[in-house]
Amino acid sequence: MSIIDLKNALVKDTVSRGSVFVSEPAQVRSGRKNDFAVGQFCDKNVQVDFKIWDEVTFLPLIKNGPGVYDTEVVGSEYNDQKYLTVRSIQPSTSGYTKADFLDAIPDFMLEANWRDVFSDLKQLGLSDTCMQLINSTIEDPSLDSRFKTEGAAIRHHDNKIGGLFHHTTKMLRLLATIIQNNPELSASIDLLTYGIVVHDIGKVFEYDNLTVSDTWYASHRIRGIELLASLKDAIISAFDEPFYRQVQSIIAEHHGEYGDRPNTVAAAIVHYIDLLESQVTGIIQMQQAPGNEERLLTRDWGYLRPLKLSE
Ligand SMILES: [Fe+2]
Ligand SMILES: [Fe+2]
Repeated sequence: MSIIDLKNALVKDTVSRGSVFVSEPAQVRSGRKNDFAVGQFCDKNVQVDFKIWDEVTFLPLIKNGPGVYDTEVVGSEYNDQKYLTVRSIQPSTSGYTKADFLDAIPDFMLEANWRDVFSDLKQLGLSDTCMQLINSTIEDPSLDSRFKTEGAAIRHHDNKIGGLFHHTTKMLRLLATIIQNNPELSASIDLLTYGIVVHDIGKVFEYDNLTVSDTWYASHRIRGIELLASLKDAIISAFDEPFYRQVQSIIAEHHGEYGDRPNTVAAAIVHYIDLLESQVTGIIQMQQAPGNEERLLTRDWGYLRPLKLSE
């Protein structure tokens, strides 16, 4: 049994048999006649929708949750949307593990980017105190060294090993540019930098190596605030209580109108930077997904024509 090539499998009426990886629980929906299940198969940066039309077939998937499965699928199409119809699916006996399906951003690249952006931020006025606080925060034993390996998401943007670290670094690069454009912000460089470093740090607890963790329902914003509370004394002695409270506001409100609305300018700025970074990365990944070569369907604006990308 080999890993199914998801792009080839999508070709209409093609039957493929092999192993696949499911990173998120499938959802059961009510149809006209009976319930059906929908979800996604993921392999490296390729994600493909699947549908399972009868309960007997989808039960093993619902019962066992995310993981590696052996399956038989048929390439299907409805209203221009391509997906796989699952004929059978069972927990895999192939010996493949999740790691065989996950994409990783090379460590050396992540570390080099991190060093570069901090040398820029230091030139713009980042303090040594803040740098020390950042290092002790990301090395906190409760994170189990996973700040640098966890994904930024399970799908959409930076759903790769190292994705959270990558997403955070890209946001810091945008921050450096924004401070250059608006020099008055340099008075708050420590707060904005630290806020970006910790804004999604709770994803280490929301996810478990790019699948949902057992306690995913307490979101990364809640878990980030919890981590911050454990560091409260160190943060207040490095800065002061208003700094600590402002960081709480950044973590709690960085989803803007998609969560608790920002109460501080710092939370609003981090939200804008987060949105820009994640949306641009997400739309590029979407364009690279199979079936989107001619046009891609977005939630906000309908169909978009792809643009030229280098390999
Ligand atoms: Fe977030
Ligand atoms: Fe984020």
